[in-house]
Amino acid sequence: MADYPTISEQVDDVATARTEGHRKMDWAREHMPILDAVRAEFEEDQPLAGQRIGMAMHVEAKTAVLVETLAEGGAEVAVTGCNPLSTHDDVSAALDEHPNITSYAKRGVDDEEYYAAIEAVISHEPTLTVDDGMDLVAAIHEDYPELIDSIVGGCEETTTGVHRLRAMDADGALNYPVFAVNDTPMKRLFDNVHGTGESSLANIAMTTNLSWAGKDVVVAGYGYCGKGVAKKAAGQNANVVVTEVEPRRALEAHMEGYDVMPMGEAAEFGDVFLTTTGNRDVITEEHFEKMNDGVVLANAGHFDIEINLDQLSELAVDEREAREGVREYELEDGRRINVLAEGRLVNLASPIALGHPVEVMDQSFGVQAASVRELVENGDSYDAGVHEVPDELDREIAEIKLEAEGVEYDELTDEQAEYMDSWQHGT
Ligand code: NAI
Repeated sequence: MADYPTISEQVDDVATARTEGHRKMDWAREHMPILDAVRAEFEEDQPLAGQRIGMAMHVEAKTAVLVETLAEGGAEVAVTGCNPLSTHDDVSAALDEHPNITSYAKRGVDDEEYYAAIEAVISHEPTLTVDDGMDLVAAIHEDYPELIDSIVGGCEETTTGVHRLRAMDADGALNYPVFAVNDTPMKRLFDNVHGTGESSLANIAMTTNLSWAGKDVVVAGYGYCGKGVAKKAAGQNANVVVTEVEPRRALEAHMEGYDVMPMGEAAEFGDVFLTTTGNRDVITEEHFEKMNDGVVLANAGHFDIEINLDQLSELAVDEREAREGVREYELEDGRRINVLAEGRLVNLASPIALGHPVEVMDQSFGVQAASVRELVENGDSYDAGVHEVPDELDREIAEIKLEAEGVEYDELTDEQAEYMDSWQHGT
């Protein structure tokens, strides 16, 4: 099909890679009760039979369980990475072994290879797309618009992807329906908050072997991800400082008890800086010039543009790999600034990164699977544009999870339901 090689054609010892990949997937699967339930249903009903799904995601063990679930539902799936550094090659090779799955994802690709792999996925002529960051949707609209008529719809995993899609929609340039999976409660309130909080801090600690306790930790952006990072850093006895550009979010951070100030001030004393804004140039030359010797900089936002590394490189008189995944930039006056994972999202792209905890991704991917099924069953009823995932699908995923956790909860009585729906009852 595509000229671009699959992962199986690229790894040295494919058998060993697949064994290790399957081992990682087995562990993840055992802790993913939602996808387990969805998979059982998909295996029986084959709701995705005849569909071709193109995916650009972080190809590691949890994503692999989603890919497999979609394939077991009858779809043919072609998958690649959505970040040059987040793929686990062994997992990618294990996926590629499945008769209905082709994986092109490989860690450490350059820009040209990254986009060639996206094109390879598109060469399978997908009828559905599942993106994390919108690269597939963008490539299809820009270079393969002839495929759009046969595309039922798409699903988008992350805030930055949804943001880009909304901008595209506002321009009248989005020509098929896409679900904003990121915006569901079951995704955003858990994955962005707890997932990013836990996994970013864990990866920074493991990559540097440094403690959080007593550090001044500067969190840029107090959105869903920033809230999780700030809370968990404070829970590890760091002194948390928040920077924001949105007044209500700045106020929210202030009322949570964090110090809120401009980055220009925080740069003067912070020990660790973590960007979670989805914006560009959040930490730049003017900040590098004020920073203390030995500071640690990391990014958890989707793209590697939050810390301006071009400017840092220009300021630096020397650069070296201080530890695996830690690049040290030495400035003219001898101060050293350490950047983790090349400024790419630290919880997925650092050398030891595992991404979010399994339980959290079970929820996000449960919503993804339900959204794909909804598009196949009812795609005709959605116009081109960005759509909210129907709330009942999100609730369905929450119910499966609560049952798996053994958590019981109350139900509205008929009288309560009627009361909540009425306007006639006053004082
Ligand atoms: P959000 O929109 O809830 O929060 C972003 C916040 O950053 C907003 O409050 C905004 O006002 C603020 N902001 C924007 N520009 C700023 C600036 N120059 N300085 C300070 N604050 C600024 O978005 P969310 O859901 O928190 O996502 C943030 C980023 O993280 C996105 O790129 C998203 O795709 C990514 N993400 C990463 C994950 C990971 O695994 N690392 C998981 C989920 C999302």
